[in-house]
Amino acid sequence: ERQGKPRVLVADKLSPAAVEIFRARGIEADLRPGLAPSALREIIGTYDGLAIRSATKVTRELLAAADRLRVVGRAGIGVDNVDVPAATARGVVVMNTPHGNAITTAEHAIAMLFALARQIPEASASTKAGKWEKNRFLGVEVTGKTLGVIGCGNIGAIVAERAQGLHMRVVAYDPYLSEKRALELGVEKLELDALLARADFVTLHVPLTEQTRNVISREAIARMKPGARLINCARGGLVDEAALHEALVSGHLAGAALDVFETEPATESPLFALENVVCTPHLGAATAEAQEKVALQVAGQMADFLLTGAVSNA
Ligand code: MLT
Repeated sequence: ERQGKPRVLVADKLSPAAVEIFRARGIEADLRPGLAPSALREIIGTYDGLAIRSATKVTRELLAAADRLRVVGRAGIGVDNVDVPAATARGVVVMNTPHGNAITTAEHAIAMLFALARQIPEASASTKAGKWEKNRFLGVEVTGKTLGVIGCGNIGAIVAERAQGLHMRVVAYDPYLSEKRALELGVEKLELDALLARADFVTLHVPLTEQTRNVISREAIARMKPGARLINCARGGLVDEAALHEALVSGHLAGAALDVFETEPATESPLFALENVVCTPHLGAATAEAQEKVALQVAGQMADFLLTGAVSNA
């Protein structure tokens, strides 16, 4: 029998709103972001709940030391930093917040689209360096161009809608997208190869799973339309970075905007040397609004579960 209040460890940098919600619901919450895996293993045994973002890796080893743990809550969408089968085998529920940061991530993809089309980061760096290179930067319009959305779920659908507002034609590859939903969204459903052959811009909005890993493989890149541009605000392992580098150097692709990388933190990459590559450090979900929403949602869901056993992904 457990005694006293449930205890939650907030192991990543979540908005303070999360801790407030836990405490208001009568749950003890400790905010300890940035612990080394060994330090985390040492203390995890005293907690009923673990709230995380993407930095904490919830491995089989960590779970083996988590004697009281009943729930892992991910303030965000991707649970690829959680060993879900190992958690499930121990009866630990894993929950995420599939909607809280969807708009923000979609907006980042659109920001990346324009950053690429108009070379905004390079032009900004050049102007700040006092060069005034008005003739160096010749962009492309997005109006009338085809955007290929790979993964047309919570985030991809918002990207599609925003892109239509920009007068782009939107095609989508998503095995889970019904014809009815495609019609509602006004997107044309295509097989992956057809999308790659048609899209001027390709944007990724799928989770990283064994099925999606390397979806933008060397072969896929070869099938992309010459001069196309790639946007990845989803997960690093979706793209073959070495093949992408070659395609950007050869000119087969005109540019790539990457928010996520095979290895994160990404502090060095041959891609960083290319001027047709725009990079951000996994900022897709990084707005005040989204972080507030996912913190509130994850804390509310975890509190419901710890206090009543109810399971929901808001
Ligand atoms: C997610 O899966 O929601 C994102 O990776 C968000 C984050 O950076 O926490």
